[in-house]
Amino acid sequence: MLLEVSELRKRYGKLTAVDGVGFGVAAGTCTGLLGPNGAGKTTTVSMIAGLLAPDAGRVLIDGQLLGGETSPLKRRVGLVPQDLALYEELTARENLTFFGSLYRLERDALARAMDEALAFVGLLDRAGDRVKTYSGGMKRRLNLAAALLHDPDLLILDEPTVGVDPQSRSAIFDNLEALRARGKGILYTTHYMEEAERLCQRIVIVDHGKVIADDDLRGLERRLPESRRLTVDLDVVLARDPAPDAAAPAWLAELAREPGVEAAAVAAGRLTVDLAELSRAPAVLAFLSAHGQPFTHFATERADLESIFLALTGRTLRDQAA
Ligand SMILES: Nc1ncnc2c1ncn2[C@@H]1O[C@H](COP(=O)(O)OP(=O)(O)OP(=O)(O)O)[C@@H](O)[C@H]1O
Ligand SMILES: [Mg+2]
Repeated sequence: MLLEVSELRKRYGKLTAVDGVGFGVAAGTCTGLLGPNGAGKTTTVSMIAGLLAPDAGRVLIDGQLLGGETSPLKRRVGLVPQDLALYEELTARENLTFFGSLYRLERDALARAMDEALAFVGLLDRAGDRVKTYSGGMKRRLNLAAALLHDPDLLILDEPTVGVDPQSRSAIFDNLEALRARGKGILYTTHYMEEAERLCQRIVIVDHGKVIADDDLRGLERRLPESRRLTVDLDVVLARDPAPDAAAPAWLAELAREPGVEAAAVAAGRLTVDLAELSRAPAVLAFLSAHGQPFTHFATERADLESIFLALTGRTLRDQAA
């Protein structure tokens, strides 16, 4: 595992901002660190990037313990911070020269790394312009370029798309996909559900400094009954029934006893079936056909991470927004 975090803790006075957090990032994969405002995401990634000393816990990079500010392992990590860290009066190239000097890259290596990073984020043609003339999205992309100069194996991005227009956002996503394809590990913090869905193979949800879920998207979806629910709009046979919505169709009780069916109900001409596994859905449709019950439409529900968060915590993400 490229990154392994275990039992990480950080207190600010009385507040425990990070309370025993643990998870991993494999090379060539993206892990999403997801949680509402104040969940402890930035505090966690600051400890992983070696900027903040944990009160307890371990950060391992390729099995080696990251030992604070001066650890040589820090070179293997690149952080794109939540707040832009750029000098507005300097050009993009001057900014990158400054960041490169922090990593003590020698002149030729730095020049090469700069061109590569600027080309990668699509800013090569604007490299001589002062940052204050950049759009918000361009500044975000330059921030990403700065984190890539020293060619880190693990790239950490702390809400990199805040204030970014859809086009730049899409460009950043493409950049991250390309980095992942090159075998980089990515840790991506966000509170946008759809970003984690789009980018991450693994999703770690944090709330009040604790991990409340660590799973792939499919695994998270399985925790929600809605994601295993099949609805079927029934056709004419029910309409021939004298009181279609009052009387349950004759086959309903039998359907409820079918393997993999947890519950089945009919209301207003629509059959709703809760399944043990979504893969049972075709069997339900086959059951209906076998019982001479035509239908006009069927659908399953898609669980988004918003609803998963609600199911896990009883709160919506917006409830807690600062
Ligand atoms: N330097 C600090 N001093 C005191 N408290 C802090 C400090 N930094 C963070 N906190 C507190 O720790 C908690 C976690 O903050 P953190 O910035 O890690 O959350 P976050 O998940 O990154 O939130 P956001 O989505 O808003 O960026 C919050 O309650 C915050 O107020
Ligand atoms: Mg933060």
